[in-house]
Amino acid sequence: MGVKIVDTALRDGPQSLIATRITTEEVLAAAKDMDNAGYYAMEVWGGATFDACLRFLNEDPWERLREIRKVCKNTKLQMLFRGQNILGYHHYADDVVEKFVQKSIENGIDIIRVFDALNDIRNLKSAVEATKKYKGHCQIALSYTTSPIHTIEYYVNLAKEVEKLGADSLCIKDMAGVLLPDAAYELISKLKANTKLPIELHSHCTGGICQLTYMKAIEAGVDIIDTALSPFSDGTSQPTTEAFNYALKGTKYDPKLNQDALDKAAATLSKTKQKYLDNGTLNPKSLGVNPNILKYQVPGGMLSNLMSQLKAQGAMDKYDEVLKEVPRVRKDMGYPPLVTPLSQMVGTQAVMNVITGERYKMVPKEIKEYLHGNYGAAPAPVDEAIKKQIIGDDEVITCRPADLIAPEFEAYKEKYKDLVKSDEDVLSIALFENVAIKFLEEKYNPRPKIEAIIDEFNLNVR
Ligand code: CO
Repeated sequence: MGVKIVDTALRDGPQSLIATRITTEEVLAAAKDMDNAGYYAMEVWGGATFDACLRFLNEDPWERLREIRKVCKNTKLQMLFRGQNILGYHHYADDVVEKFVQKSIENGIDIIRVFDALNDIRNLKSAVEATKKYKGHCQIALSYTTSPIHTIEYYVNLAKEVEKLGADSLCIKDMAGVLLPDAAYELISKLKANTKLPIELHSHCTGGICQLTYMKAIEAGVDIIDTALSPFSDGTSQPTTEAFNYALKGTKYDPKLNQDALDKAAATLSKTKQKYLDNGTLNPKSLGVNPNILKYQVPGGMLSNLMSQLKAQGAMDKYDEVLKEVPRVRKDMGYPPLVTPLSQMVGTQAVMNVITGERYKMVPKEIKEYLHGNYGAAPAPVDEAIKKQIIGDDEVITCRPADLIAPEFEAYKEKYKDLVKSDEDVLSIALFENVAIKFLEEKYNPRPKIEAIIDEFNLNVR
C-alpha cells in the first residue's frame, strides 16, 4: 500500500499564502480535475475559509461547500474544525458545535479534522461525538510543538486517549513547521506501535525542512501526508503534491496519483496564483524559506504579525528582544502550542512586556481569560507568581469551559427569524454575528444597484 495523499491546495495552501482570498469560482475551476487525481481526500473547507467568505469575499461558505460537493464525485472532502471554537475564535455552546458538524456533513463533508490549540481533550469531545453521530470520519489532530513537556511520550499518551475517545484517525498537526526529520521518524514509529489508528502528518515548509521530515515520516510508516498542488505549495504552505508523486513513483510508497489530472489542475491554479501575485496579495516572501522559525520555534505567520505590531509602534529595533521574550511568556503560560488563538495572545503579551519595559504591566484581556481557565487546561502549570500578579486571587475554573455556556442555537434562530432562511444561516450568525448579518441582509435584500452606485459616488466626492 502506498502512502495516501490529502491535497490542501484549496484550503491550507491559499490560507497560508494568500490570506484565504481564493474565490469559490477559482476553487471550482480546479476541483473537477483534482477529483480525478486519486487523492485519499481533498481539504477544501473549514479553518479560515468560512470567515473569509463572509467577511472578505461576500460569498456564502455553505454554498461553496455544496458546489464543491457537486463537482467532486470521487474524492472525500475534508475540513479543519477548531474543536469547541468551531471555525471561530472563542468557545461556543455544545448545541452549536453539534449543529455545525451535522450541517457540514449534510452539505458534503466526509472527514472532519478536529483539533484544540491546547490539546485539551475535553475541548474536542462535543465535535467528536457529533461527527460520529452524523456518520462522518472523525480525525483528531494534535497540535505539535516543542517544549520540555511536549515530549514524544506526551504525544503517545495523548494518542492513546484520542483512540479511546473514538477517533477514526490521528493527525500530527505541525502548524509551525518545526518537526525535525529524526523526531518525526521516532514520533511516527511510536504512534504506529502504540495505537491502531491511521496516522497522518501535516506540516509547513516555512523553515525549509518539511520535505525531509515527510520522507522520514514515510519511512516510519505514516499512512497519509498533506501536500498541495504546485501553485499553492512550499513557502509557508505544504510540500508539493506532484513532487511527491514523482519522488515515490515505483517505490513501495507510490501514491499512484494520476499525473495528467494533477497537471491540468495545476495549470488552472497557476492562473489563479498569477492573479494574486499581480495584485500583491501573494507576497513573494511567503514563497521563500525562513530558517528563523526553527531558531525561535514560532510559526511564520506569528513572525510577520510581530513585525507589523512593532512597526505600528515604531519599535522595530525591539524585534530581537521580542523574539527572545516569546519563549519566556510561553513558559510562564505553561507552554501553550503557538496556534490560533494562542499564537496571537502570546505574541501580543511579549510585545507589551518589551515595549512597556516591565513584564506583565499591561496584559491583554485574552491572557486574563486564559489564566482564569476559560480556554481549557494549560499543558503545564502556569507560573503561580505571575498568575497572582495578573489575576490576583480570582477564582479559576477547572471544568470544561463549554460546560458553563448555555445552549445558543434556538435563541439565535428566534432572534433572527425575519432574516434567516435556513439552519445554515443561523450557524453563520452564531459564529460571526455582525459579519454574517451584514452578509445575509445584502444576500436576501440586495439594495437596488443604482442606490449603491449613488452611495459610492457620494462617498467618493465627499
Ligand atoms: Co496547516
